[in-house]
Amino acid sequence: MGKRITFHDHKPKTLSLQQAVIEGFSKERKSIPPKFFYDERGSALFAAICDQPEYYPPDVEQAMLTRLAQEIADLTGTGRVIFEPGAGSTAKIRLLLEALRPLAYVPMDISCEFLKQAAADLVDEFPWLPVHATCVDFTHSLPIPETAPPGRRLAFFPGSSIGNFSPQAACEFLTLVHQQIGPDGLLLIGVDTKKDPDILHAAYNDAAGVTAAFNLNLLHRIRNETDVECNPENFDHQAFYNPEQGRIEMHLVSRCRQTLRLNGYRFELAEGETVHTENSYKYTPQEFLAQASRAGLREVRHWVAEQDLFALYLLAGA
Ligand SMILES: C[S@@+](CC[C@H](N)C(=O)[O-])C[C@H]1O[C@@H](n2cnc3c(N)ncnc32)[C@H](O)[C@@H]1O
Repeated sequence: MGKRITFHDHKPKTLSLQQAVIEGFSKERKSIPPKFFYDERGSALFAAICDQPEYYPPDVEQAMLTRLAQEIADLTGTGRVIFEPGAGSTAKIRLLLEALRPLAYVPMDISCEFLKQAAADLVDEFPWLPVHATCVDFTHSLPIPETAPPGRRLAFFPGSSIGNFSPQAACEFLTLVHQQIGPDGLLLIGVDTKKDPDILHAAYNDAAGVTAAFNLNLLHRIRNETDVECNPENFDHQAFYNPEQGRIEMHLVSRCRQTLRLNGYRFELAEGETVHTENSYKYTPQEFLAQASRAGLREVRHWVAEQDLFALYLLAGA
């Protein structure tokens, strides 16, 4: 019997937080891409966000996956090769594995150590499942490792991670997924819906302050991993719904006038100036299906949770 678990590192060597700080802080509106949230501590904090009562998406999506597992399997069939960009803790695929009985599972994530541990735990729990864990930056590529067997593919992209892309970048990412699944492939994707802004606001401003700690962890990373001298205590977490753009925006707000120095660069921040760290776009089913069709993906079926809180889409390659 072959090895049940393999690890592959396809993370681009160009992935430098220091470079991202220089580029992002040189813009008129300062920003850092959200992929830099995820070191080991960031991944653990994200897992803790998922336990916060205000952060409804994981509970709603997991209830949908549990309830729909057999219906989804009836549509996809069994024995596919499943790959999951941004697999994180792999909590969601676990809900589908018995029904979908894949030939192999390829979890992909930028947080390599967290991915390794999650993959090892998965193999312990599902000893029949070959796992090919792959460390990637999915904004660059989605490489399926050579150790994975050939077979019809199913991409799984839960957690509304598609909302972190701008609509243009989301279309490019869906096109990349489309290329990787091929003409007989499928994509099962979870996408957050537009809803009462109060529900959205509470979800990204949990009372326990875990989302705030997750956002501020970026500054701890910058302090620990780059030559920038910065004090995370000089910043506050901010998250709000921007109705014109249909997205939650997350920012780090400078609490005072301050100068960050890095190898001859000087970045001035005024009091109240923000560093934009994440967007989370929300889509109505109509908007999302139009977006998918721009990437050449057609609807097989979609499901909407009670009170329209969240949606799941099964899409097929053309
Ligand atoms: C919002 S979490 C979702 C986790 C999981 N899919 C879920 O639904 O609970 C985003 C996940 O994607 C990973 N991630 C973020 N940006 C990434 C990138 N550019 N390339 C690969 N993984 C990324 C993070 O490490 C994290 O595990």
